[in-house]
Amino acid sequence: TTAAAMAATSVVVLDRGNNTTCTINLHGATVVSWRVNNQEQLFVSKLASFDGKKAIRGGIPFVFRKFESISLDLAAQFGAWSFGPQHGFARITRWHLERAPDRLHNGDVEAIFSLMDNEFTRSIWNYQFRITYRLILREKELHFHIGVYNPSKELSFSFNMLLHTYLKVPDVRRCQITGLHGCHFIDKTRENALYQEGREVVTVNEWTDRIYQHTPQEHVITNVVSGRKMRLHKYNFPDTVIWNPWIDRSREMSDFGDDEFPNMLCVEAGNVTSPVILLPGTAFEASQILQQFKCPYDIIN
Ligand code: BG6
Repeated sequence: TTAAAMAATSVVVLDRGNNTTCTINLHGATVVSWRVNNQEQLFVSKLASFDGKKAIRGGIPFVFRKFESISLDLAAQFGAWSFGPQHGFARITRWHLERAPDRLHNGDVEAIFSLMDNEFTRSIWNYQFRITYRLILREKELHFHIGVYNPSKELSFSFNMLLHTYLKVPDVRRCQITGLHGCHFIDKTRENALYQEGREVVTVNEWTDRIYQHTPQEHVITNVVSGRKMRLHKYNFPDTVIWNPWIDRSREMSDFGDDEFPNMLCVEAGNVTSPVILLPGTAFEASQILQQFKCPYDIIN
């Protein structure tokens, strides 16, 4: 298939063989499925909207938005950004397929997506920019490489960015997340109060919405599909958001089933609490690797 033919449809599939595939919807360059040996790794709500307007509820939306400073005193300001959609325009804009899925010499499959400023993005955020998003599908891994470029000769800009990963899990209450011990976090369920994590591993048993700061490069999430573990490795993404809406917040979302919250866990790597500042003519790079693995031992709490 040529890039032109694929761009006519809105979905791009990377196929590595052995029922290992990754599907990207050009709406937001949202990864909507990642199957390893036919086993889905990502959660997508049964009520997700694919109308090309709303963000897709699930998978891995690409969050890129205007930076707003966070005031811990002004609780309301953090959740609701003063203008533009909360999680920015990139996840609701149609991206361009820059390079159609291509098999590399080692059997891995790569595709590249891109987004440049256009009339729509300018109406929300009046800057010139160019984002490239390169995905590589390996046997049990998915690699994400992001580049943001500021082509302007005079203007600097600042932004937040986040890979909003919705992991599919059999029961969120049984998941443990490593790598957060000792980190400071903003608790969005408690008026943005700042705390320090005292637990060796984090578990989720209620409405959870936390921005952990200066987290290490790696988290392991236990008890994902088939009781396996997921390793999340990140580069140039200093923060990690942990989110599950639980019962009441699920009911408030029109594109999320009331009974779906036990089957998802968002672990989101990003630049959230401080902006990325790009001077004219400069670029920013960040990456993430998700790796599914089977581990002979359990993480002890
Ligand atoms: C998380 C935020 O990243 O995304 C939550 O921390 C938010 O506060 C959630 O509710 C979902 O956001 P949205 O815009 O997709 O409904």
